[in-house]
Amino acid sequence: MTSAELPRIFEGISFPGHLHTLESLQFAISFPFQDQDILIVSYPKSGTTWVQEMVTLICSRGDPSLTQSVPNWARAPWLEHYYCASVLGAASIIYVSRNPKDVVVSFYHFHKMANFLPEAETFEEFLKKFLMGTLSYGSWFDHVKGWTCQTATLENLLHLTYEEMSLDLHGAIKKVSSFLQHPLLEEEVNNCVQHCSFSSMKNNNMVNYTLVSDHIMDHSKGCFMRKGKTGDWKNLFTEEQNHYFNDFFKSNMQDCALDFVWEV
Ligand code: A3P
Repeated sequence: MTSAELPRIFEGISFPGHLHTLESLQFAISFPFQDQDILIVSYPKSGTTWVQEMVTLICSRGDPSLTQSVPNWARAPWLEHYYCASVLGAASIIYVSRNPKDVVVSFYHFHKMANFLPEAETFEEFLKKFLMGTLSYGSWFDHVKGWTCQTATLENLLHLTYEEMSLDLHGAIKKVSSFLQHPLLEEEVNNCVQHCSFSSMKNNNMVNYTLVSDHIMDHSKGCFMRKGKTGDWKNLFTEEQNHYFNDFFKSNMQDCALDFVWEV
């Protein structure tokens, strides 16, 4: 591992060093947002890419020309922005969250294919790091509590969950389009639904990350669009891990009244 590949600790959070320079992280936290900007904020594996696709399609009135010709990272650039203070009052902010058991499972599999993240020896070890907040991009608990419990009354912030998109994609698209003050005709909503479906996104190389080199993501080890399901944690968690997780969750989320859907 060269020094550029060592994790970069920035403001107490670990970032993959060869993806994020100090300058880029500094730039992110001082980015000058403007009123018309749309900011999608999430902890990794919470449905970020899904919302990037949805917002592009809403802004294109359901026309997939852009989502099928421009890679998602060029349409919705990553800022690695995790502070809320400097964006309050500007930009429309969509905060997307997902139940943390599915997040940790998705993140565990992602570490196997993402060459910029260290592969965990076991899920047990990975789960402990997730709970302790020592994985790259920091603590899920701090992220979710910071962006939801402390910002609950902000008018420019919409909280969206992975599970509500799974259960009712049509309703979620209407909710986002209304928040963005971008009303759509029923036919346009239906087109967004079609192009935001898991199968459509899995087959679209502008969003399934197959355009990135193997050096960054090794597609022989897994797919970015992996399963797209709620409740997949049940296939990996042992009963003991589940009990431990539930106790940890209860004591660490006491001050946050969010309800998560754990399975459908
Ligand atoms: P899984 O690994 O559980 O399949 P992010 O974009 O925040 O990194 O999140 C990635 C997760 O969102 C992956 O979860 C991926 O499959 C899922 N995902 C992306 N697009 C989706 C879609 N259209 N429908 C359902 N899940 C989707």
